[in-house]
Amino acid sequence: MAITVEHGVFHVETANTLYQMKADHFGVLNHLWYGAKTDNVMDYLLDYPDVGFSGNIYEAENLRTYSLDTLPLEYAVGGVGDFRVPAVSVTHENGSCALDLRYQEYHILKGKYQIPGLPAVYAGEEEAETLEIVLKDTATDVKVILKYGVLEKEDIITRSVVVQNRGKTPVILNRVHSLCMDFPYGDWEWIHFHGRHTKERQVERVPLIHGIQESGSNRGMSSHQQNPAVILCERGTSEKKGFCIGAALMYSGGFQMQIERDQLDQVRLVMGIHPDTFSWKLEEGESFYAPEVILSCAENGFGELSHRFHQVIRNNVCRGKYKLSKRPVLINNWEATYFDFNDTKIEEIAKQAAKLGIDMMVLDDGWFGKRDSDISGLGDWFVNEEKLQGGLGRLVERINRLGMKFGIWMEPEMVSEDSELYRNHPGWAIRIPGRNPMRGRYQLALDMANPEVIAYLYEVISNILRENNIEYVKWDINRNMCDWYTPTLPKDRQLELPHRYILGLYELLEKLTGEFPDVLFEGCCGGGGRFDAGMLYYCPQIWCSDDTDAYERTIIQYGTSFFYPVSTVGAHVSAVPNHQTGRVSAIGTRGTVAMAGSFGYELDLNMLSEEEKQEVFRQVETYRKNQDLIYNGLYYRLCDPMEDNMSIWEFAARDGEQVLVQGVVYRAEPNALRRRIRLAGLAKEAKYQVAGEENVYTGAALMAGGILLPEIKGDDAAVQIHLKRVSTL
Ligand code: DGJ
Repeated sequence: MAITVEHGVFHVETANTLYQMKADHFGVLNHLWYGAKTDNVMDYLLDYPDVGFSGNIYEAENLRTYSLDTLPLEYAVGGVGDFRVPAVSVTHENGSCALDLRYQEYHILKGKYQIPGLPAVYAGEEEAETLEIVLKDTATDVKVILKYGVLEKEDIITRSVVVQNRGKTPVILNRVHSLCMDFPYGDWEWIHFHGRHTKERQVERVPLIHGIQESGSNRGMSSHQQNPAVILCERGTSEKKGFCIGAALMYSGGFQMQIERDQLDQVRLVMGIHPDTFSWKLEEGESFYAPEVILSCAENGFGELSHRFHQVIRNNVCRGKYKLSKRPVLINNWEATYFDFNDTKIEEIAKQAAKLGIDMMVLDDGWFGKRDSDISGLGDWFVNEEKLQGGLGRLVERINRLGMKFGIWMEPEMVSEDSELYRNHPGWAIRIPGRNPMRGRYQLALDMANPEVIAYLYEVISNILRENNIEYVKWDINRNMCDWYTPTLPKDRQLELPHRYILGLYELLEKLTGEFPDVLFEGCCGGGGRFDAGMLYYCPQIWCSDDTDAYERTIIQYGTSFFYPVSTVGAHVSAVPNHQTGRVSAIGTRGTVAMAGSFGYELDLNMLSEEEKQEVFRQVETYRKNQDLIYNGLYYRLCDPMEDNMSIWEFAARDGEQVLVQGVVYRAEPNALRRRIRLAGLAKEAKYQVAGEENVYTGAALMAGGILLPEIKGDDAAVQIHLKRVSTL
């Protein structure tokens, strides 16, 4: 049993972790512990100081030491005396905003709860358990149900929240965070993943200040600028040592993550839908479901934490035929042609790709409507016959005849003003009556809260997939959202649109991925602007960044790897000079970096020299040979690219039989020792041999002493070392 309740204390245990909370004698649910197993009730750590200006609940009478403002709380409420950041905030019919939640009851259920309309971690009946704790407001009939999904073996706990209005009058929800966690003790730092278009998920690690620190997005999407994932770690935590907690929000819309260090040096972490772009009217009898947070903690550093997230995302978040199976190596025409192509040109690229062993041709933007540049055509999902003579079906057949699969790009959520769709349905675009809308990449967003829009998109997309042998869809979106207004909602509910947009998107993706389970959906958002666990529920891979420069990618992929497994990371070899940075890196380096992902190419293969083509051929072969190890092995970050002048990573087979070390050394240095790198995840007592060499080393030596990298000549030099176990000592 992962969940047990004794004397009012809730114990949630996984293989290596313990989560505890307790309803105290006032019915307030205290958070007691999240961390290593202790075999102890951790309430002895609760303290009740008499802190000036921290008030007391009325029932405490003259007890000045009982304050909601100083206690570690499981789900913090606003307006009744806890002055730290709240997890939930509501407005009642009379305009008041207080909510005082007290424990009512609990339920333990077999299996993992699911959330209506939202993606959630899934698991078999025997693999998971659910704990529900029901809290009720002292003065109204508002209830909050805290949900905990426990995947014991995986060391994963999920959290989600349901707010129910059991009263007679409506309640406005201003904020409903999915996660709230208090840490009374510890010396903490936090890590978040910030960036911009073409520079996503840059790692920033900072100490906690007194006050509130925040990462979030109010852009209608999880965003390039901040990723909805955070790590809280003890000072000094490294890849291999130290305690850390990770939380990833399974949601693709705007989000907020706040960390507050309070007057007593206690820390509170809250995470959920961004309240600035959220409001929800809950009528009598209605429930609101907040998205899920995936939680884990590790005592042995970031590497262990990442492994737990990789495992759960790969096995319990991603779905469909390609969830665990090998992905096709693809060639995408975007950086090869941009909008300037026709069927002959695409076939020429595909012919060369087929010769080099590539599996799939992906036709990117520009194949539909009037789409010769990004100024027009979005929404008109019918073929542009000037470019593709004979239609889409004919091109698909020609590509299939080469022995290749065919994939296609779409940007379903968007519309160009210069399109038939917009001319016929101007009211389907999001804009505020009487105001000019913001345009992003010249385009407007469709109102995904409008059921007619969802029905239309389902119809056109499913027809394209039914009528053609399309085995892959790149689902793109290329602007941020604002101008929130929809004619489908009354004026007091307009701020429901951002969340309803995401619900509409998920509904559409659920229908399409359900009907076409064999199609590989790759998420994309101008690269990696919507790279989150929510999208990964529908798309087992996401285009990681529009920056295809090998050096830049090592840093972007490094940041991405803290939460997301390599199989989810779309990565391509592109042309040089690189289109984003102008940098020229060797084709071997570009290949090595792209192999740490779902591998592909994005250049005109016909422009390559014979030597380069042979290299492509070899790369495809190497990738195929190692794909199982890359996808299913344990991924280790062996150094910090921001500090070490190189980025080196490793895939270790779970049975310790082999490891693949890859990476890039950035700047060559004269008169220097060869670089040494310590490996990880080997069997200490086993012996390993480097492919193509005679020397044999023990796993213990390779992990403690490391291995010397080959002599480096030139900048951005690729490293690729394969070691196999040869015998046991
Ligand atoms: C943004 C994507 O990230 C690119 O890969 C490409 O598909 C373009 N959109 C096409 O408009």
